Amino acid sequence: MASELSPIDRAKFLAAKQATEYVETGMKVGLGTGSTAAWLVQCLGEMVREEGLKIKGVPTSTRTAQLARKVGIEVITLDEAKWLDVTIDGTDEYDSDLTLIKGGGGAHLQEKVVATASDRMIVIADASKKVDTLGAFPLPVEVIPFGAKITKKLIEETLINMDVLGREVTQRMNGDVPFVSDEGNFIFDLHLKRIGNPQQLSLALNQIPGLVENGLFIDICDVVIVGHADGRVDVRDIDKDSDEVVRFDLRDDDNIFADLDD
Ligand code: A5P
Repeated sequence: MASELSPIDRAKFLAAKQATEYVETGMKVGLGTGSTAAWLVQCLGEMVREEGLKIKGVPTSTRTAQLARKVGIEVITLDEAKWLDVTIDGTDEYDSDLTLIKGGGGAHLQEKVVATASDRMIVIADASKKVDTLGAFPLPVEVIPFGAKITKKLIEETLINMDVLGREVTQRMNGDVPFVSDEGNFIFDLHLKRIGNPQQLSLALNQIPGLVENGLFIDICDVVIVGHADGRVDVRDIDKDSDEVVRFDLRDDDNIFADLDD
């Protein structure tokens, strides 16, 4: 199985596998969106089916909800859960403060609501997501369709006074039509290249009335787990101020990759 995975998928899988250490029976777990989070959902599903793990999952998108149900995880809404023990999600970028850019999959609004309603947020990633300065990945913002052109103009005006390198704003498309989020909104991508002050930018963007939420996650993430294709996994816990290295023995394929239905 290991040999069938590309190096990047092996890295994502190992990060997801390590993140399952933070999940115990009885927990309510926020389930992220994206290719790395999909590995996590599969790993948890296997633990539910094979090991009797009992959890309730709160998905951050319709596609994660579909996958969670398919692999056997009980799905509830955030309002039913009221509060979550942990949320585990991927990221598009993270820096040394564990500030994130998320929303490459267009789900950052629900992801932020869910992560903020959790005791802990754990991010799982491959090494390509680590950056010295955020902003190479375009920052997604979710915008209501009503007056979207005006909102775009207000975003462009706001960016003039921000500490960023690029200021182009593009609407995310799905083929020939605008991309629409699970909440029925548009996504604009801000091509900033370098974000000098994420806090200031996040506050300024969220002041714009038609803009619902931006993809900067500031002081939300507690732990970053980074998988590597060679079996190494780095675990950085900002609450404990600790860095740990875990090693999976990839020769032991049967145990690590057992029965994953991908
Ligand atoms: C979804 O909207 C995003 O926030 C994803 O979590 C993020 O894009 C990471 O996705 P991958 O794990 O597929 O890189």
